[in-house]
Amino acid sequence: MLELKNITFKVDNLDGKGEITILDNVSFKIEKGKILIITGPNGGGKSTLAKIIMGIEKPTSGQILFDGQDVTNLSITERARLGIGYAFQQPPRFKGVTVKKLLNLASGNKLNDDACCEYLTNVGLCSKEYLKRDVDASLSGGELKRIEIASLMARNPKLAIYDEPEAGIDLWSFSMLVDSFQKFKENKDQTVVIISHQERIIDLADELMIIADGKVQNKGTKEEIMPMIQSGTTNCGCPIKEVALTHER
Ligand SMILES: Nc1ncnc2c1ncn2[C@@H]1O[C@H](COP(=O)(O)OP(=O)(O)OP(=O)(O)O)[C@@H](O)[C@H]1O
Ligand SMILES: [Mg+2]
Repeated sequence: MLELKNITFKVDNLDGKGEITILDNVSFKIEKGKILIITGPNGGGKSTLAKIIMGIEKPTSGQILFDGQDVTNLSITERARLGIGYAFQQPPRFKGVTVKKLLNLASGNKLNDDACCEYLTNVGLCSKEYLKRDVDASLSGGELKRIEIASLMARNPKLAIYDEPEAGIDLWSFSMLVDSFQKFKENKDQTVVIISHQERIIDLADELMIIADGKVQNKGTKEEIMPMIQSGTTNCGCPIKEVALTHER
């Protein structure tokens, strides 16, 4: 359903001399209904890869196929219409848009308060009082993050990409989130990509991929890849502690 072929992304060096390669010849496929978890060290290129799939960044070279269609040159809006959705690692704030309005816009339906609350409950925000709040600077980082995740759940796209959903989220809400993510396993119509460092989220994986230094270092089932991460035999070329996962939650 999604295939990336030889995606390279380069940016100009700030001193104007030469280029930096952020993603280097990245190729992989995801089949419909599967859950792909992407992990790897900070700065490895995971969020850039997600933004390239969503159309927020344009690759320097390479091709992106979605349901067999070449979407490489399509805009964010066109890709969203086709069914690609992305929940940012650091979500944007929207002054003047209430949480209820955001959930309505995301779902494309008129949702009543109870339906909105159900989406918020999935991410551990169970109070109706949030519905009237603006998605602005008055929300805490963790609240904003959870509302972003709830709005991607409400959108329910064919391909949903969650970028570090655990970031900034307290323990209790994290448990709620993992419970909600469990439902992805039963939904064979939705393909899910989750960028994460959390073992409990990695447990959901049909496939696990390590991105480091802008390259796909390993991809396989979690049974194949987890032992490599745990034993330090991954071939990513970076110190193993950098791909160490968080398990204290
Ligand atoms: N537009 C840009 N200009 C310059 N450097 C960039 C640009 N976009 C990304 N980078 C750099 O590319 C590298 C990869 O960034 P990216 O955000 O994709 O990493 P990541 O794997 O998501 O890391 P993290 O785990 O910290 O979220 C980083 O070193 C980042 O600073
Ligand atoms: Mg990132």
